[in-house]
Amino acid sequence: MNEIDWSSLSFSYTKTDYNVRCYYRDGKWGELEVHSSDQVSIHMAATGLHYGQEAFEGLKAFKGKDGKVRIFRLEENAKRLAKSAEGIMMAEVPADLFAEAVLKAIKLNERFIPPYETGASLYIRPLLMGTGAKVGVSPADEYLFMIFVMPVGPYFKAGFKPTNMMITRQFDRAAPQGTGHIKVGGNYAASLRSGEMAHEKGYSAVLFLDSKEKKYIDECGPANFFGIKNNTYITPESHSVLPSITNKSLVQLAGDMGLKTERRPILLEEIETFEEAGACGTAAVISPIGQIDDIDTGKSYVFSKDGKPGAVCEKLYNKLRAIQYGDEPDTYGWNTIIE
Ligand code: PLP
Ligand code: COI
Repeated sequence: MNEIDWSSLSFSYTKTDYNVRCYYRDGKWGELEVHSSDQVSIHMAATGLHYGQEAFEGLKAFKGKDGKVRIFRLEENAKRLAKSAEGIMMAEVPADLFAEAVLKAIKLNERFIPPYETGASLYIRPLLMGTGAKVGVSPADEYLFMIFVMPVGPYFKAGFKPTNMMITRQFDRAAPQGTGHIKVGGNYAASLRSGEMAHEKGYSAVLFLDSKEKKYIDECGPANFFGIKNNTYITPESHSVLPSITNKSLVQLAGDMGLKTERRPILLEEIETFEEAGACGTAAVISPIGQIDDIDTGKSYVFSKDGKPGAVCEKLYNKLRAIQYGDEPDTYGWNTIIE
């Protein structure tokens, strides 16, 4: 393999040595298989290809100063994939199969886990899709669960620096009673056009409003939204927001730091009163938001004037990373350690 420049990794596909796969056929899951090719052969009438019967996950593993590898909140990702499967009628991946597959994929690609000092991590991408052939719209009888891993750096180019986002009412990511709360591919397809529009205009992502009334903040394309004011961590409550595991962890950590925490609808106007704002997720970690421009009304909401992250964002970021890398005690047992 070519030498990897760990410190300048971005969030993009890198082929690693192996991926793991498991097929669901005749009502049961088969044996976990190990593959070195990154190609998949599936039926051309697979429901995953035609009707979006597909869901995925994203989690990370970190190498600590002690040489141990820690996987962050593996059980939560297993649960969320099961919810996604239930939501679009796919066979559920049992939690123990999920864990076994994640561990196997990491161990087989150990040489791709970035060293501690680099601040990079190993991104783990589980994927579940309908592979059975159906041309009428109905759930498949066969499924493929697979996992690949890749070493990654920051999702937003800036890394831990304020990044700008835009609001538009021209596109929705998810319907009010649709699939926004589960991690299915269709949500991301629906976000592509507005996401590209944002990139063309120089923003890192779209901040979506609720699709029914366009009054409340929902979430960013690939991450949840939070704001800080009056010593309070505030994040949206909405059926069409993906329940972020990072956000859930930050709510806990913010509370431990003495902040009040609120999960409730956030009116767009309210963000004017926020002292700090951020996007959070596995890939995004915490990305402080510098400014949000509403391109339909021309109004701007500014959170960072000096190009620096706010103090609370920084404290939360440092705390979360310290737990993930094993620099601080993992009080809640969030990490699965590979010795
Ligand atoms: N919201 C969306 C739409 C996402 O794609 C993600 C990424 O997984 C998140 C939020 C963050 O969720 P998590 O913190 O569990 O990665
Ligand atoms: C993640 O944070 O794991 C995501 O899935 C976000 C994005 C890459 C889709």
